Amino acid sequence: MSQETERHGGGKARLWQNWVSLSGLMVVIAAFFAFVLLWLLELFAGSSNPYVGILAFLVAPGFMILGIALFVAGILVERRRLHRSREPRALVIDLASPKHRRTLLIFSSCSIGFLFLTALGSYQTFHLTESTTFCGEVCHTVMEPERVAYQDGAHARVSCVECHIGSGAEWFVRAKLSGSYQVYATLFNKYPRPVPTPIKNLRPAQDTCEQCHWPESFVGDVVRTVRSFQGDEEGSEYSVKLELKVGGADPTRGPTSGIHWHMNVANKVEYFAEDESRQTIPWVRVTDREGQVTVYRADGYEDEVDESKVRRMDCMDCHNRPAHNFHSPNKAVNLAISLGRLDRALPYIKTNAVYALVQEYSTKDEAMSEIGDFIQSKYRDQDPNVVAKAVEEVRAIYGRNFFPAMKASWLSYPNNIGHKEWPGCFRCHDDNHKTEDGEKVLELSRCDACHIILAQGSGDELDQLDAKGQPFRHPGEEYDTGWLCSDCHNGGL
Ligand code: HEC
Ligand code: HEC
Ligand code: HEC
Ligand code: HEC
Ligand code: HEC
Ligand code: HEC
Repeated sequence: MSQETERHGGGKARLWQNWVSLSGLMVVIAAFFAFVLLWLLELFAGSSNPYVGILAFLVAPGFMILGIALFVAGILVERRRLHRSREPRALVIDLASPKHRRTLLIFSSCSIGFLFLTALGSYQTFHLTESTTFCGEVCHTVMEPERVAYQDGAHARVSCVECHIGSGAEWFVRAKLSGSYQVYATLFNKYPRPVPTPIKNLRPAQDTCEQCHWPESFVGDVVRTVRSFQGDEEGSEYSVKLELKVGGADPTRGPTSGIHWHMNVANKVEYFAEDESRQTIPWVRVTDREGQVTVYRADGYEDEVDESKVRRMDCMDCHNRPAHNFHSPNKAVNLAISLGRLDRALPYIKTNAVYALVQEYSTKDEAMSEIGDFIQSKYRDQDPNVVAKAVEEVRAIYGRNFFPAMKASWLSYPNNIGHKEWPGCFRCHDDNHKTEDGEKVLELSRCDACHIILAQGSGDELDQLDAKGQPFRHPGEEYDTGWLCSDCHNGGL
């Protein structure tokens, strides 16, 4: 930039020697610097994070383009000026001139300051975007349902990105692109309500869940006590102690039978679902370790299946709500009663609480006030303190599980792990899926293949364990075994 270079530089070179172009150049350098820094941070941070990627691969290049645009704009302006004045006047910096020295000093200090701030800014943003706060709270309303449910789950300490992005370059870039679309959708209020599920481009479980849990591990039997209460005046307990035969999937670590058999490392279970939410599954194919293929079709389903829509079953086909489990009114009220948070001294509390929760409310405020009025109106002659506690609890259940602003609740998000409120396992194990020879997928009536009931009922009955298992005794009246549980238990019952 001295007169020396000007002399040798020739006409073209002079065009960029103006302050606008030089600032543009500075922006390009800073953006490149930020890009390298973010990229290195990402590389050495161990875990992957979509938003750092957005910064590194979208925002930083964006600034680079801006810098280039400034650079070119400077050249164009300079060319026009030259054209008009016909008198070459390239940028001359004469170090002997105090004025030039001052300008150069200001320019260089600004540039260094700018680079420094870029580095600091990139580093800070990196930390911000890595946090759960960013995913869950920056897009407050949009992500509120998932964030609230997540904080209640077993994965509350697993950051959003570990399930939603995982690591690796290809997904990294894909997530970046869809992430930037999401940022746009949020800013311009273009997002769907509720946020649709299953997420189409969610990564296969091998790259997310299986980074922490692996299909080879042998789980064995898991005992679960599901505590339930009936709708009668006393809210009589009706609980079930189940021994779930989860089993395992690796023949070297335990028998590959039981529920985790689907994950058998050597075989694969694939299916085709007719609907977006994967609730109707008319076609299933199993390929075993010898390569033998068995296809099961639902009664009456003859169509050829589009191979591109066939999905290999993984953890998320059963554990599809590991982090965001919205409870149905029935489930949430059962839980609250079992924890003593709703007092069964209030007659029909189970029925009334569920009733208040299955109503449709258009806003949270409306829900809170109507729930209060309804519960109060039912218990005018009861101890006001007990009633106030009940109101508070039912409101809390609503706040935890219903998000009218996003139209999110248990109804918008099927849970596929069991079969009581959603078809779940019975999407395939429903008595209707057969091979051409009429061989069925394990029928739903074979309750014992999946679990045995160790004890059921209430009080002492729950302590009398039956190691061989006992037939299920449905509470209240006899129920029609020709129906799926979810045919009745589908409205918050
Ligand atoms: C343990 C893994 C895991 C963690 C941690 C996790 N998610 Fe999810 N998330 C899932 C799965 C699985 C789905 C459902 C995907 C499906 O059904 O295909 C999902 C679905 C979603 C959906 C789509 C709507 C819905 O409810 O199905 C949103 C939005 C979402 N998660 C946001 C978040 C946010 C925000 C965080 C962090 C606060 C987070 N997730 C943490 C596994 C996880
Ligand atoms: C970063 C590690 C990590 C990832 C990724 C992860 N998990 Fe977990 N998961 C855990 C930990 C730790 C626990 C145990 C929590 C506890 O015991 O409180 C757990 C518990 C569980 C449980 C049993 C607890 C329960 O009742 O929910 C299931 C089932 C499960 N995870 C499924 C999944 C699925 C499905 C995915 C993928 C969508 C996944 N996990 C992804 C770490 C992880
Ligand atoms: C066919 C459905 C199905 C598939 C596929 C499946 N699971 Fe499970 N898994 C279950 C059921 C049912 C249980 C029993 C516990 C329950 O109901 O929550 C269970 C239990 C577990 C547990 C133990 C929970 C505890 O309380 O000890 C973990 C961990 C787990 N699964 C992880 C996984 C992972 C990881 C994958 C994918 C490799 C996977 N599961 C695939 C249905 C499935
Ligand atoms: C996409 C269809 C599909 C879904 C959903 C599904 N299964 Fe299966 N399951 C199969 C097929 C196919 C077989 C193998 C055929 C058979 O053994 O009848 C099987 C076999 C089984 C077996 C017998 C394994 C063995 O030891 O041979 C159990 C137990 C089982 N499933 C439990 C479950 C549970 C529990 C769920 C729900 C959490 C579930 N399945 C969901 C398709 C499915
Ligand atoms: C294909 C496997 C499978 C079959 C067949 C099956 N179940 Fe289940 N069942 C499950 C799983 C898995 C769960 C646990 C869901 C969970 O973890 O919440 C469950 C849960 C239950 C529960 C507790 C539900 C609750 O939340 O209150 C009852 C009761 C039950 N089953 C009864 C039966 C009866 C009766 C049959 C036979 C008519 C049957 N099941 C057949 C897999 C099966
Ligand atoms: C024909 C309809 C119908 C079918 C089918 C049905 N139920 Fe029920 N179930 C009911 C009704 C109604 C109640 C309420 C009884 C009461 O509160 O006194 C109930 C109550 C229950 C309860 C205790 C209360 C609670 O918290 O939910 C359990 C547990 C239960 N059912 C499990 C099941 C299971 C598991 C299946 C499938 C194997 C099933 N039900 C099938 C109608 C049905």
